[in-house]
Amino acid sequence: MKYGYFDDLNREYVITQPDTPLPWMNYLGCQAYFGIISNTAGGYSFYRDARLRRLTRYRYNNVPFDFGGRYIYLRDGQSKEFWSPSWQPTRHNLEDYTCRHGMGYTVIGSSYNGIEAHTRYFVPLDENLEIWQLTVTNRRTTKATLKAFASIEFCLWDAQDDATNFQRNFNTGQVEVEDGVIYHKTEYRERRNHFAYFGCSQPGAGFDTQREAFLGRYRGWDKPVAVEAGQLTNSIAYGWSPMGAHQVNLELEPGETRQVVFVLGYHENPIAEKFDPPGSQTINKKTVKPVIAKYLSAAAADEAFERLRQYWESTLGVFQVNTPDIHTNRMVNIWNAYQCMATFNMSRSASFYESGIGRGLGFRDSNQDLLGFVHMVPSRARERILDLAATQLPTGGAYHQYQPLTKRGNNDIGGGFNDDPHWLILGVSAYLKETGDWSILDEPVEFDNEPGSQAPLYNHLQRSFSYTLDRLGPHGLPLIGRADWNDCLNLNCFSDTPGQSFQTTTNKDGKVAESVFIAGLFVHAGRELAAIARHRGLEAEASGYIGETEKMLAVIDEHGWDGDWFLRAYDDFGAKIGSKECEEGKIFIESNGFCALAGIGLEDGKAAKAMEAVGTHLATKHGIVVQQPAYSKYYLQLGEISSYPPGYKENAGIFCHVNPWVMIGETRLGHGDLAHDYYSRINPSAREEIGDLHRCEPYVYAQMIAGKDAPTFGEAKNSWLTGTAAWNYYAIVQWILGVRTSLDGLEIAPVIPKTWPGYTATRTFRGVVYKISIERAGEGNAIALTVDGVSIAGNVVAAPTDGRTEVVVKGILT
Ligand code: BGC
Ligand code: NOJ
Repeated sequence: MKYGYFDDLNREYVITQPDTPLPWMNYLGCQAYFGIISNTAGGYSFYRDARLRRLTRYRYNNVPFDFGGRYIYLRDGQSKEFWSPSWQPTRHNLEDYTCRHGMGYTVIGSSYNGIEAHTRYFVPLDENLEIWQLTVTNRRTTKATLKAFASIEFCLWDAQDDATNFQRNFNTGQVEVEDGVIYHKTEYRERRNHFAYFGCSQPGAGFDTQREAFLGRYRGWDKPVAVEAGQLTNSIAYGWSPMGAHQVNLELEPGETRQVVFVLGYHENPIAEKFDPPGSQTINKKTVKPVIAKYLSAAAADEAFERLRQYWESTLGVFQVNTPDIHTNRMVNIWNAYQCMATFNMSRSASFYESGIGRGLGFRDSNQDLLGFVHMVPSRARERILDLAATQLPTGGAYHQYQPLTKRGNNDIGGGFNDDPHWLILGVSAYLKETGDWSILDEPVEFDNEPGSQAPLYNHLQRSFSYTLDRLGPHGLPLIGRADWNDCLNLNCFSDTPGQSFQTTTNKDGKVAESVFIAGLFVHAGRELAAIARHRGLEAEASGYIGETEKMLAVIDEHGWDGDWFLRAYDDFGAKIGSKECEEGKIFIESNGFCALAGIGLEDGKAAKAMEAVGTHLATKHGIVVQQPAYSKYYLQLGEISSYPPGYKENAGIFCHVNPWVMIGETRLGHGDLAHDYYSRINPSAREEIGDLHRCEPYVYAQMIAGKDAPTFGEAKNSWLTGTAAWNYYAIVQWILGVRTSLDGLEIAPVIPKTWPGYTATRTFRGVVYKISIERAGEGNAIALTVDGVSIAGNVVAAPTDGRTEVVVKGILT
């Protein structure tokens, strides 16, 4: 069953039923101020860091599941009835409910007893605030006397502390109300120089700032006593739970429409200018007032919305494609690219499945996210690369995560994930291929943020590479450390204590367990690094890298091949993982997918065999599972992977992040049909029809779909923040459509389904617009290219040297 439809023209997904299987959400903001918003107005907002600067409160894992949000109520003066146009929190039976999730905005509305109302929520570019534009229309034949109430519950900044430290927090809450604007200033009196505000374009009818005054005793948000009474109480919060509520009285003639604007925002003052007058305890509002006043005008809000729309138009315009497959088109042109922006901004911090308090930016995650993001805003990718590299340790190793607010490595999760350093090479390489900005390699970057430790970024890459050479195991394969890409394959953990973290517990010295996956990654990263070195004229150094990758290839041949597929690892006893010899976990996706992606075994048939084995043993109609057979019990020597019941997450779930490695592997073998088939199995748009099974949003990827061993085979979980976004985008755009960035220019190498007559695309690359059309004249993948009518040798289109800023590229596939 479907719960809505795609409106591709407007780049929206329109939800037509509020009780979706799970909250279907969207992100507001794309720079520093962010919010998450569900299809029933649930969610919260924060400035930069979802844990440390949480503006509004949200209760994860509540009942109903999605609770806490940007809630608006309407109350009818005649019937005294009240309802929420966004369905939650009152959950009335509404007519014509729709939620339009678009690029950086969400519009939720409905009709009830002849009153039509919708609210547009968005964050203007370059501002630290969000706008709620409420439009109410009276469709009755009689005059309507209505009251509108808008409400938000403030979080006392640190979301973790806010949810736990009540003995303190029930005493600290403070607000100010001035000119109808509510200012939340908890802890502003001491060490904070930031505050939140909530304003309304038509103040005066009433406000509340103390939650209990608004809700009443023993009541929830579905039945606030003040809304029921039809009058807010002008309460001022001292301690307990500060909130913001505004009341607006509306008299609407038949057919009349009125708009009310609410603005919720974050503001900082210089420490020396916190108070006005100086020496008082009153917030200095000099710089914030003009901002609030500006956006409380509907015209300014409309203008800001138009700017946002244009921003997305041009950001998405960098690559647009038209293929015979609608699901490919809308994911590539709209939603997948949009999701890549979200993963770049949020890493894995704030979604409906990531509570915003747990994780900073992952070193491996953020580097991989660049693959799907770098073409949209290269300057931000550059900044991110430098931030990531500055947390790298002098050994070449990395903190697994860093905090976005401080940009420092996060010791809670530690380091020693031995794949981490190589992703930096891939991230930098993706940036160089996109931009040709070689200057980044000369940027001085600290190690571990230690002043004085600066070395050129290039040196960081060299250390990333040698990190593995310094850590080889008994077979000559890379030692796995705490884990590799699969955080749950914890071969040095051996934890038998309930609740112990698999991510940080180590009981073994780590000198035995090896990873074939890291071996494949090492070869791939080594070749990328060699190409970079060669480009810089460092021929001898480049040959050195190639020499090391060749040695590793020989080791993979000897100790990493199981006969029909690549092994996964060796455990601490030196026993094989991912082998026919194993009872469970005989074959894994990661080593096979990544080796094929890296082109390992292309010449001698190993890659083809491995992909065949993946197809036979791991592929299902809902995607490719991590391994088979699933682990049916807990294995002390394997760690978290076997802690999951069979079919879920890393234990034989369909991890959508790694499926693209197989898709790319298949393109390297020339199998366009199968590559696109695998792509379609997990493409959320192609799964829209099975909404009751899939359950997550049909417009973004989920991290995981339950595998065939699970009772809920086909059910998705953990949508939005996953490496799936970048990798699927990269696989479809660069390998299946074959519009691939390279150090030398734009490479055109489609490996598309045989049934496709071709496709057209537009790509802006290093300042030049490439108008691409691909035509199929035969069933193969050989391509002949013309550029502005002139045929070229090979398939790399070099940048025009004569100042042309638009070129027409035609490709004939035979
Ligand atoms: C999850 C992994 C994740 C890890 C991060 C585990 O519980 O299964 O997917 O990478 O936590 O800390
Ligand atoms: C999610 C983590 O964010 C990512 O870093 C990891 O590679 C996968 N899970 C697999 O464990």
